[in-house]
Amino acid sequence: MSPERFLRTCWTRRSVVGRGAHLRIPELFAAPELQTLDAIFACPHRQVQAWFSTENGAHVQVRVSAAEARSLYARGATTIVVDFLDHPEIARLLSHLYAELGTPQHELYCSAYLSPPGIGTRMHFDSQDNFLVQIRGEKRWKLAPVAEIKYPNRSFVPAVGKLEPELAAVVKKFPDKMPRNATTATLKRGSGLYMPKGYWHASETIRESLALTLSFPSMSFMDIALSHLRRRLVAREEWRAPAVGLTTRGVVQLAALSRLDDLLEGLGAELSSLGAVDFITT
Ligand SMILES: [Fe+2]
Repeated sequence: MSPERFLRTCWTRRSVVGRGAHLRIPELFAAPELQTLDAIFACPHRQVQAWFSTENGAHVQVRVSAAEARSLYARGATTIVVDFLDHPEIARLLSHLYAELGTPQHELYCSAYLSPPGIGTRMHFDSQDNFLVQIRGEKRWKLAPVAEIKYPNRSFVPAVGKLEPELAAVVKKFPDKMPRNATTATLKRGSGLYMPKGYWHASETIRESLALTLSFPSMSFMDIALSHLRRRLVAREEWRAPAVGLTTRGVVQLAALSRLDDLLEGLGAELSSLGAVDFITT
């Protein structure tokens, strides 16, 4: 699929699988630093996590040392996740994708997932767009768009994760099983999978797997507006002032409410004179 077609039909909209990425980006697939757990630990990274399921089926993520990760992984029941993995080929791919996607981003990052056969990731959705790259092994994914909300700004794991207030404000309940329209994609060495935010996904490792996830936390229009507003207001003493009295009662509260009304009135007038360009240039 051409980059133009991807941008037109898939980016932020639907998942797509690509094959043969090892031919298009051979340097990434051949990098010796990305072939084994020990080699990956030798690359700069921010943290290592062990993901596993307890006897009652709960999903647990714990931060572990490299030595603990090696030992847990050797027992064959744990996925090891190395977050914010830094490698020149990964950095090159992230910056290339960033330039082509043309969408402002919060911090980009890459995580490596090492998982033994039979171990998977339970159904969940993420709040960022993800590109998965299968370096070796084989993994089967189930995928389906979340019907209840588009572009969620929080991730969610049914039956385990707590529904965050910003999600709960939009959706009362999510399903705890994959929707019937879920599709299956099997990734082998050289496969890539793109899935936008708000896609249910669950995996099962078929053959010992090493995969990279390149995460793109795309900025929303809300993020753009709020960050501009914050920059604008934080420069002003009256907006930085503590909201004294707002949660009391009586005349003190009335005075605080009146002060806020005045500030909002001034802000409303100011915003109505601004255009989109002001939001991205100041
Ligand atoms: Fe995920």
